[in-house]
Amino acid sequence: MTPGPTALHFSEATSHDMFAQRLPHSKDDSLPQILAAAVTHLHALIRELRPTQADWRKAIEFLTDVGHASDERRQEWVLLSDLLGVSALVEEINSRRPKAATPNTVRGPFFRADVPQLALGSNISLDGIGETVDVSGRVQDLDGDPIANAEIITWQANAQGFYENQQPDLQPEFNLRGSFRTNTDGHFHYRTIKPCGYGVPDDGPVGKLLRQAGYPLRRPAHLHFIIKAPGFETITTHIYDSSDPHLAEDAIFSVKPDLVRSFERQGEGATTWRLDVAFVMVRARQGADT
Ligand code: BEZ
Ligand code: FE
Repeated sequence: MTPGPTALHFSEATSHDMFAQRLPHSKDDSLPQILAAAVTHLHALIRELRPTQADWRKAIEFLTDVGHASDERRQEWVLLSDLLGVSALVEEINSRRPKAATPNTVRGPFFRADVPQLALGSNISLDGIGETVDVSGRVQDLDGDPIANAEIITWQANAQGFYENQQPDLQPEFNLRGSFRTNTDGHFHYRTIKPCGYGVPDDGPVGKLLRQAGYPLRRPAHLHFIIKAPGFETITTHIYDSSDPHLAEDAIFSVKPDLVRSFERQGEGATTWRLDVAFVMVRARQGADT
């Protein structure tokens, strides 16, 4: 059949339009539109970079390696999204919390859901290595009213910058992890050690690629928190140590001024520290994820 006057031939200029033309136009299904937009940007990138077949095979090998490196213990795709700034950008686009509320940040790959529930005041440093920090905090709503029985899940790196699940042979299981509940005043407290900043793992395809490109993989010292309470939006966030010199270079773009706190010495010259934190929750919007 002779092509009509508007029919396109596949060429550098028309490739993305040819793809898009084959998709149905549907008001109810956003998938065709998403695919057309993704392919338009992908073809523009290919036109800009002009890879050889060998270059493109390398790109496909990289993506294959990312898939092979991912399992229940390690999520290399999430690491890729985090390090390319995509996770932080998606968070930014969706963050509609009032200024006074605690912002969300990236959860990261070292979270474990099966964390032990501990009594207030417990020490989550199971090997006792590091400088002691007494953490005390409160959970409140936007009016400043305490939220009782909120769940606080915390996890952090040790004083050398490693998580327990990175060093299963060197650290006790669940070292520097715990889940606590706020008391009737919305308060919680526990003991831990001062975390150290660390390099994002570069033993997988994502870390290797970015290291090769000269991308800084540092994360400044931080504690991770997830705060859950019925009727409120779950907070997934970090608290950063204000004394860390690398706050401005966080590899995953998660440092926000409201999340930076100073660890105070318990006395002059003391090697034990105190950290006060407050988390402000917003009521869950109807039908929204909590
Ligand atoms: C973390 O802080 O645990 C983390 C987050 C994203 C990528 C790598 C590490
Ligand atoms: Fe971390």
